[in-house]
Amino acid sequence: MSDIISDFTSVIHREPYPAISPLRAELSQAGRNVLITGGSLGVGKAMARNFMLASAAHVIITARRLDVLKTAAAELEEEAKQAKSPTKFIVKTCDMSKIEELNALWDDLKAEGIFVDVLISNAVKYSKEGEIFDIGVGEVWSQFEANVRGPLILVDRFYKQDGEKQKVSVTVSL
Ligand SMILES: NC(=O)c1ccc[n+]([C@@H]2O[C@H](COP(=O)([O-])OP(=O)(O)OC[C@H]3O[C@@H](n4cnc5c(N)ncnc54)[C@H](OP(=O)(O)O)[C@@H]3O)[C@@H](O)[C@H]2O)c1
Repeated sequence: MSDIISDFTSVIHREPYPAISPLRAELSQAGRNVLITGGSLGVGKAMARNFMLASAAHVIITARRLDVLKTAAAELEEEAKQAKSPTKFIVKTCDMSKIEELNALWDDLKAEGIFVDVLISNAVKYSKEGEIFDIGVGEVWSQFEANVRGPLILVDRFYKQDGEKQKVSVTVSL
């Protein structure tokens, strides 16, 4: 990556630093279930790893490709063993642009008795860059389906889970 020149960011962190370390007792996620969309790669997978280090009970990672999810979960499970973390990983396929898949995800979790305490809405659909009229109405609309309607359904189902427990929702922005 090229050097970033900024007047207001004097220090750039590339790893979790002590103040936000997932190993801090007061940041423990013990007993919590965490759902991370787009958890098989990149930022989502890194968050899954850190919730595991913070001892979450379950980390549910979702994405479209099952094979990539399974590979990520296997790697994270191995890391959990090394770290002596109690975290169990669950993989679920779910395309953020498909209403029925989003609802099936929450229906499955409910049927399995899993209450999600922390929702990380991280997966997004990118289209090629360009003028809206070059990209095309259909493609632009598909971004709204995946990046606006999808997260809205996620949050709706998250808040409407049975039970009065405290819930935390985080959106990773474009
Ligand atoms: N990387 C950066 O430098 C950066 C900077 C600022 C913000 N962000 C934000 O961080 C988030 C993640 O970015 P990333 O760079 O980590 O992305 P990434 O490495 O490309 O990973 C994307 C993840 O989302 C899943 N995904 C993609 N489209 C999906 C869809 N339609 N439905 C469900 N899952 C889908 C992918 O799996 P499948 O393809 O199998 O579905 C994968 O797990 C995004 O919100 C991005 O805007 C990233």
